[in-house]
Amino acid sequence: MAIMIRSLLLPLTLLVLAATSTVAQLEIGYYSKSCPNVEAIVREEMVKIISAAPSLAGPLLRLHFHDCFVRGCDASVLIDSTKGNLAERDAKPNRSLRGFGSVERVKAKLESACPGVVSCADVLTLMARDAVVLAKGPSWPVELGRRDGRTSNAAEASDELPPAFGDIPLLTKIFASKGLDLKDLVVLSGAHTLGTAHCPSYADRLYNATADPSLDSEYAEKLRMKCRSVNDGSTLSEMDPGSYKTFDGSYYRHVAKRRGLFRSDAALLTDATTREYVRRVATGKFDDAFFKDFSESMIKMGNVGVLTGVQGEIRKKCYVLN
Ligand code: HEM
Repeated sequence: MAIMIRSLLLPLTLLVLAATSTVAQLEIGYYSKSCPNVEAIVREEMVKIISAAPSLAGPLLRLHFHDCFVRGCDASVLIDSTKGNLAERDAKPNRSLRGFGSVERVKAKLESACPGVVSCADVLTLMARDAVVLAKGPSWPVELGRRDGRTSNAAEASDELPPAFGDIPLLTKIFASKGLDLKDLVVLSGAHTLGTAHCPSYADRLYNATADPSLDSEYAEKLRMKCRSVNDGSTLSEMDPGSYKTFDGSYYRHVAKRRGLFRSDAALLTDATTREYVRRVATGKFDDAFFKDFSESMIKMGNVGVLTGVQGEIRKKCYVLN
């Protein structure tokens, strides 16, 4: 009898183990039966959102990045703080995030079409892709099936997100801890073709006792006219001046001319591999290659630490646990 029970239990245990320990299993068309119009619904809402506010493309792309780098792409960045818990979105590097309302709006549409089916983590991933497409950037297939996490902790976000002052060794280490390499670093930094930044993210480069040699002095002078002090929290500067609402390779032209806004952008000129990439795309002849690389790196980033199967939950509202 004992042998019989054991022989029945073993396969069962293996099955449970397999279900809980499999590597991320995301799929194209994951919702093909449970919510077949998911991509069309997200796209339709995104068209409305971006037509009304084109400057939201950057923030929506950044939300996905900040989600994936902390506890994996599990929508933990969207959870509101509660009395007993300071959540990721209230961590210092996340205070400049925008677009939360747009995510809730898209999620609400999906909840009315297919209640309790599509995770907030998948919504964020699709919205980031669509933000890039609608900003005239590349498109890529999005694998789906992420589940939403149930933990969100501000201290973790401060520890895990790359800081604007990051140099190559630090950035490489942070990216490697997410399974991303040096190429992903230089390629994904190209996301800074979209969007704007607040003075405190770069003003230390303008108001140091000795001028920052990695920043073009004429450009520094221009930036000083806008950003009057290190503490100026209200002035915004474009990272890719002239085309900050369009996804293209021109960010690399600025970086190549020592006009990258953050130290992390400038750092790309200090390593042979990343420098070569910057200079290549800066010629303007390799935007297609950059688009392809960006798509590949975004797919990789969208796989970081995902929850699948029976892990986590499918949140009904993205800002609060079920
Ligand atoms: C390499 C490491 C990175 C560092 C150190 C970094 C740092 C920053 C900083 C400091 C800002 C400005 C925040 C503010 O002052 O408002 C910013 C903005 C932005 N970042 Fe990054 N970033 C990095 C990588 C990425 C990646 C991988 C993506 C996406 C794939 C991304 C997308 C964006 C976008 C779109 C904005 C503009 C957001 C807006 O317009 O509000 N960044 N980043």
